[in-house]
Amino acid sequence: MVNISAASKSQVKLELLRALEANTGGFVSGEKLGQQLGISRTSVWKHIQALRHQGYAIESLPRQGHRLLSCPDSLLSLEIQKQLHTRLLGQTIYCFPQLTSTQNIAFQLAQKGAPEGTLIVAEEQTGARGRLGRFYFSPRGGVWFSLVLKPPLQPQLTLPISLMAGVAVAEALKGLSGLPLVLKWPNDIFVRDKKVVGILTEMVAESDRVQFVICGIGVNANIEPGAFPEELRPIATSLKIELGYEISRTTLLCQVVESLDRYYHLFLLQGPQAIIEAWRRSPNMLGKKVRVSSPEETMKGMALDLDSQGALQVQTDTGLVKQVVAGDVRLLEN
Ligand code: BTN
Repeated sequence: MVNISAASKSQVKLELLRALEANTGGFVSGEKLGQQLGISRTSVWKHIQALRHQGYAIESLPRQGHRLLSCPDSLLSLEIQKQLHTRLLGQTIYCFPQLTSTQNIAFQLAQKGAPEGTLIVAEEQTGARGRLGRFYFSPRGGVWFSLVLKPPLQPQLTLPISLMAGVAVAEALKGLSGLPLVLKWPNDIFVRDKKVVGILTEMVAESDRVQFVICGIGVNANIEPGAFPEELRPIATSLKIELGYEISRTTLLCQVVESLDRYYHLFLLQGPQAIIEAWRRSPNMLGKKVRVSSPEETMKGMALDLDSQGALQVQTDTGLVKQVVAGDVRLLEN
């Protein structure tokens, strides 16, 4: 179980880091840092030790003070807080070196009243969930996180939230990588016919009102080709494989969460239609041949368009147009 009060304790360390960084590699005395932060020199020293434990390299010399040499390459709330500029999402952050699933922690926190936008990040997940109850491969090197959302919606009208997540993540990753990313309904993201991002939206609702939605996002960021299990190699890829170099996962996470923050506001202000239009404008699989497996049936046809609720319209081989609100969509060779 997670201690909810833990998130706020990092504020002093964040200010301390900012003060060290403002000095661009120079020394700052413990006394000056203490004055700036309104804490004692002993307390400055304790926070510096704690930062070292988290992987920050800080040099301390008698009579000169402290200077920041380097920041760790891990997903840490302090690093995320330093870079993240959002109005709502990620104001409260929890980071873990390893979890079963960020979805589980997000559910626990939301049940205990965590504020909207709470962000849960893991370096690695051992029991991550994919859509349709599938296991989701999420080793170190990826970016795995969940967000607590509380949209004022009826439970049957939440499909645009799933679409919104896909559009927002694809836009941020396109900006960061320049890769040719394609959305597959509702929100998988592919690059050159291989999946690079998976998104899972789960919710707790009463009959007429959503209590909260947990939006879980997995980005295969810096995963080596050999790290994927055999069965995933033909169908999954990572940004590192496609780009040939690593990208900063903290930057990636922050840009993705900022994009989600913008699109979530668009959704709250302008409603589902704005999201559906944005989805249509993003490179997507409309016009492609698909096979859809839903709880009711399996059918083949052409992905035509989205309807006003975000459902996928598929024209079957017999000419009928069917609406798909849930199911597994596979792209077929055209
Ligand atoms: C899918 O493509 O089937 C959806 C995958 C969603 C994976 C993410 S990773 C972060 C969050 N935690 C989980 O257990 N699942 C989601």
